[in-house]
Amino acid sequence: MASVSFEGVWKVFNTFVAIPNLDLNIKDGEFIVFVGPSGCGKTTTLRMLAGLETPTYGSIRIDDEDVTLTPPGRRDIAMVFQSYALYPHMSVRSNLSFGPEVRKESRSDLNNRVEKVANLVGLHGLLDRKPAELSGGQRQRVALGRALIREPRIFLLDEPLSNLDAGLRTHMRAEIADLQRRLGVTTVYVTHDQVEAMTMGHRIAVFDRGRILQVDTPAQLYRNPANKFVGTFIGSPGMNILPAELARDGALGRIKCLGSVFSVPAERFFTSTDLPSRVELGIRPDDLHWTKDAPSRCREHIFGTVRATETTGSETFVLVDVDGVEVNARFPSFADIRIGQKADLVFDPNDLHFFEPESGNTLRTEPARILEQQGV
Ligand SMILES: Nc1ncnc2c1ncn2[C@@H]1O[C@H](COP(=O)(O)OP(=O)(O)OP(=O)(O)O)[C@@H](O)[C@H]1O
Ligand SMILES: [Mg+2]
Repeated sequence: MASVSFEGVWKVFNTFVAIPNLDLNIKDGEFIVFVGPSGCGKTTTLRMLAGLETPTYGSIRIDDEDVTLTPPGRRDIAMVFQSYALYPHMSVRSNLSFGPEVRKESRSDLNNRVEKVANLVGLHGLLDRKPAELSGGQRQRVALGRALIREPRIFLLDEPLSNLDAGLRTHMRAEIADLQRRLGVTTVYVTHDQVEAMTMGHRIAVFDRGRILQVDTPAQLYRNPANKFVGTFIGSPGMNILPAELARDGALGRIKCLGSVFSVPAERFFTSTDLPSRVELGIRPDDLHWTKDAPSRCREHIFGTVRATETTGSETFVLVDVDGVEVNARFPSFADIRIGQKADLVFDPNDLHFFEPESGNTLRTEPARILEQQGV
């Protein structure tokens, strides 16, 4: 097992800055997920840790050892890619034992190791099949097994489930998380799927344009996003962002938003006494309630017109037009709501988030706290 730290790491491709100045500490035994939209630098960061790319500046340490220039083979890291790239002409057994054989590792216990890993990833009974005779999930398990047989210090996975169908992805997600728990090996998992990130990681690093915007536990990311990007990226649908005007009134911040006026305790929401007059207000779809079902703490209203509804049986998603702004709401269970009907959405002001419009930073979390979370 191993801890990892990125210190002032940059990656510049020709003139394109893919990663500007990355600092990140990963704890021994931690399962950390890198999440973010396509092209935000997740794979590049992972490849630098694996030794497949060299940082332009800065250093990478594994357990206090500077590995910035250490070749991949000497880092004791195993990586699983999206395309599992198995050897098609070899059996599962040979796919698993190929790496150790090439590395001329002792053959005496290799059969035992293959059996052990096959059991671990649920391939028992399939060892004599060829990849073509396996399902997508089973092939992905061979790829996992092939990485695990190395008993690496660090396990890297880059979108390993994106070739699988939705049901199998959910299943494998739980299997990988369980495997990591049992082995306790430091793991970095890359995905652009926020549901995967939220359900698998101890901590999640949210990337945008080469920068990490927040590193935190799933619960903290959901409840206290450091900025608008994180708020809208995490959650499905993401947080609603509404324009609002803010004025201070003693201990209260008085807010005007889309025809509604309400107050929040200023000291709870705003770190600075020097409040901006324009803010963006964030509210999660599940923090909006349909009038008659609202908990009693929800006393404020937003009014609009229902534009679309969708129900899955266990949940109802409603799109409401409020003064020309689209607002998503999500209600538990089946709700009998019709298109065109007036909507009275009720909320608790304590569930609101406020962002500074230009920077997108939350007006509630101090930058110092965010840096601390990143272990800087
Ligand atoms: N070898 C390279 N040469 C030039 N630019 C590159 C190279 N590798 C990556 N990039 C650029 O660096 C940026 C980050 O790429 P990266 O592959 O790390 O993104 P990602 O977050 O993994 O995206 P995805 O979710 O699509 O896999 C992208 O803009 C990409 O085009
Ligand atoms: Mg990638």
